[in-house]
Amino acid sequence: MNVHAAALAKAQRFDERTSVFAGDVIEGLSQPHKRLPPKYFYDAKGSDLFEQITRLPEYYPTRTELAILRERGTQICEALGRDAALVEFGAGSTTKVRLLLERCKFAAWVPVDISGDFLNAQARVLRADFPALDVYPVTADFTAPFALPAAVKAMPKVGFFPGSTIGNFEPHEASSFLHTARKILGDGAQMIIGVDLEKDERVLHAAYNDAAGVTARFNLNVLVRINDELGGDFDLSAFTHRAIYNRERHRIEMHLVSRRAQTVRILGRSFAFRANETIHTESSYKYSLDRFAALAQDAGWKPTASWTDAGGMFSVHALVAEA
Ligand code: AVI
Repeated sequence: MNVHAAALAKAQRFDERTSVFAGDVIEGLSQPHKRLPPKYFYDAKGSDLFEQITRLPEYYPTRTELAILRERGTQICEALGRDAALVEFGAGSTTKVRLLLERCKFAAWVPVDISGDFLNAQARVLRADFPALDVYPVTADFTAPFALPAAVKAMPKVGFFPGSTIGNFEPHEASSFLHTARKILGDGAQMIIGVDLEKDERVLHAAYNDAAGVTARFNLNVLVRINDELGGDFDLSAFTHRAIYNRERHRIEMHLVSRRAQTVRILGRSFAFRANETIHTESSYKYSLDRFAALAQDAGWKPTASWTDAGGMFSVHALVAEA
């Protein structure tokens, strides 16, 4: 916990998680270019809104990655061999991992996520559906080093990081994640990772500015959380969702735009907004096959295969840890 958060925790009697949230919010809104970390989208309501996003007609990544896993699953399994422990970084819906578990012969599934309750619920369901599979949930922040369960230490390891979640990391964070994963999984490990690709900007724009406004509600939910959990007084009608493609940096940027000059109070502090000033809430980086391969290579992973859909919208990469 940083010093700021520790002081807030004491004053407000917050639990540690809320104190860290408070510290991150105050730090982010105190910057000359205001920002908030995208991980705060995902409370129960935000996770539900994200599930709705994955089913929107404009949001192509989820359905395209699922189609690649379905259509290329057998080839992917051939690249992976048998009886490995599948270590999944992050535990969202189990739809994607099921496609691999149904097609490959894994000895164990190790889902890793910060949210223990959700993880254990997912583990119970998968145990019932795959009785021959050993399931060892690990409650941890998967962007930092963590220990694998002793029971899988001797097994070959395969990391699984679907959904292009790596795209929500800054390039240096993506590199650091790949280095850490390489260390955790060890020599000889393999990795299957989903990566969204650069494409026509109109397609990207539509995917993050859907007609039904679900992405806007998802974006605004972070302000709802600040009001509910930290006693903030954001007027939600005074902020609007904006997603733009930043061509130079190969990323979609999501912002919350202040409709007018206003002051917001959070935990006894005031944050002044100019009209049209924005809070940068998320970046979603888009890669070319070559740029992702170079990133992986620099982080100690050798790219061995990649699969894309016919339209070249999304990619799934197989990597092997270099000795
Ligand atoms: C989770 N992540 C890969 C999504 C993305 O596309 O960057 C989050 C998202 N943000 C807006 N829509 C979806």
